[in-house]
Amino acid sequence: MIVGVPTETVPGETRVALVPPKTEDLIEDGHEVVVASGAGTGSDWTDADYREAGCEVVDDRETVFERADVVAQVRAMGARPDDDVDPYREGQVVVGLLGPYDLDDRLQRLADTGVTAFALELMPRISRAQSMDALSSMSSIGGYKSAIVAAEALPKMFPLQMTAAGTVQPAEVFVIGAGVAGLQAIATADRLGASVRGYDIRLEVKQEVESLGADFVELDLETEGSGDDEGYAREMDDEFLEKQRQELTRVVGESDVVITTAAVPGKPAPELVTEEMLDGMDSGGVVVDLSAATGGNCEVTDPGETVEYDGVTVFGPTNLPATVPHHASQLYSNNVSNFLENLYDDGELDTDDEIVDSTMLTHDGDVRWTHPAEAADDGDDSEAPEGDAAEAEGDDDD
Ligand code: NAI
Repeated sequence: MIVGVPTETVPGETRVALVPPKTEDLIEDGHEVVVASGAGTGSDWTDADYREAGCEVVDDRETVFERADVVAQVRAMGARPDDDVDPYREGQVVVGLLGPYDLDDRLQRLADTGVTAFALELMPRISRAQSMDALSSMSSIGGYKSAIVAAEALPKMFPLQMTAAGTVQPAEVFVIGAGVAGLQAIATADRLGASVRGYDIRLEVKQEVESLGADFVELDLETEGSGDDEGYAREMDDEFLEKQRQELTRVVGESDVVITTAAVPGKPAPELVTEEMLDGMDSGGVVVDLSAATGGNCEVTDPGETVEYDGVTVFGPTNLPATVPHHASQLYSNNVSNFLENLYDDGELDTDDEIVDSTMLTHDGDVRWTHPAEAADDGDDSEAPEGDAAEAEGDDDD
C-alpha cells in the first residue's frame, strides 16, 4: 500500500498527519510512504527526517494524491474554510478530520470522486476506539493550552504567593464543560496554582473534577437526560439554558478566568456566558472560548479573534492544537496509524467493523452517512444507509 502525506492547506495549520517515526513503522510493515515536501515543516520535521525514515519526498501535494492508495490528512473538506475537494481519485482511501457536520453539498461531491473517505470526528465512543480518537487527543491539547493562554493574558499570577512584599491571592479560574478539554484545562490551571472550579451539565463528571483538585459547581437545575449513551451531552432547551445562565452569572462574576468548552456534537455550541455575566467580571478578566469554532459559548466571541469587552479579554481560538504542533502531530499520527491498522482485514476494507462503519462518509461513489439533523428531520432512520454513523452519534433519535 502507498500511504500519502500531503501538505495541509488551511491557513495557520501547522500539524502533519503522519510524523516520521510513524511513517517508519508503516514502512517496516511493508508499506511505502510518499510525503509532499515541507509537509512536516510546521511541526518541526524536515524533508530529511522523512527521507531518513524511508519515505519518498515529492515536490508537490498533487503528486501525493496521484500516487497514494491511502491519503492521511489533518484537515480537509468540511474542516477547511475553502470549498476545495482535493484531487482524490477513484478507489483511494482518505483519512482525516473532514468536518462532516459542515460538508453540505460537498458530501456528494466527495462521493462523486469515488474515494472511500473516513472522518475521524465520527469515531464511536467505545474503549477499542480510544487510541484512534483524534477529537479527544486534540481536545486534550486544546484544554492544556487554554489555561496557558489565560495565564499569559491575565494581569495577575495564578498561584498564591506569600512573600516578604505581601501576599497575593490565587487567581479564580472557572471551567465550564468538564469533558476531555475541560478536564485538561482544570488540571493545567490547578498545576499553575490557581483556585479552580469546574461545571458540567453531566453531574457524573463531578468526581473527575474533584479528583483534579478543583471544586465542582452544582447548579440548582434539573439535569435528567443531559447525557446520551456515549457520554456526549444532549442539546438542552431554551428554558433550561436561561435558568442555567441565571445561575452561572454569580460564579462567572467571581472569576478572573473563565474557560468554556461546552459542546454538543453536530450542533452549534450553547451560549452560556452572556454580556451581562461579563459585566460582572473585574476588569482584566479573561475568557477563553474553546467552542469558538462552533459558534462559541460566550455571547461576544468572534471565532478566530480576540475581543475586548469592557475590560474583559475574550479569546475565540479555533485551532489551539496547531499552536502545540509537535506533540499535536505526534498524537494525531498515532490516532491515524492505529486507525489504519484497524481498517483492513486480510487486505480488504473491514466494513463490518463498527469503527470502520461508523467513520465511513463515502464509499464506491455513494454517501454513507446522514447528518444527525437530517436523520431527525426524516423522523426515522429509514433514509440512513445501513450501519449509519448517525446512530453512533446516538443524538436525538435515542
Ligand atoms: P464535548 O467536547 O462534546 O463537550 C464538552 C463538555 O461540554 C461535555 O462534558 C459536555 O457534557 C459539556 N456540555 C455540553 N453542553 C453543556 C451545557 N449546556 N452546560 C454545561 N456543559 C455542557 O465532549 P468530550 O469532551 O469530547 O467528551 C464527553 C465525554 O465522553 C467525556 O466524559 C469523555 O470522558 C467521554 N469520552 C469517551 C471516549 C471513549 O470511550 N472512546 C472518548 C472521548 C470521550
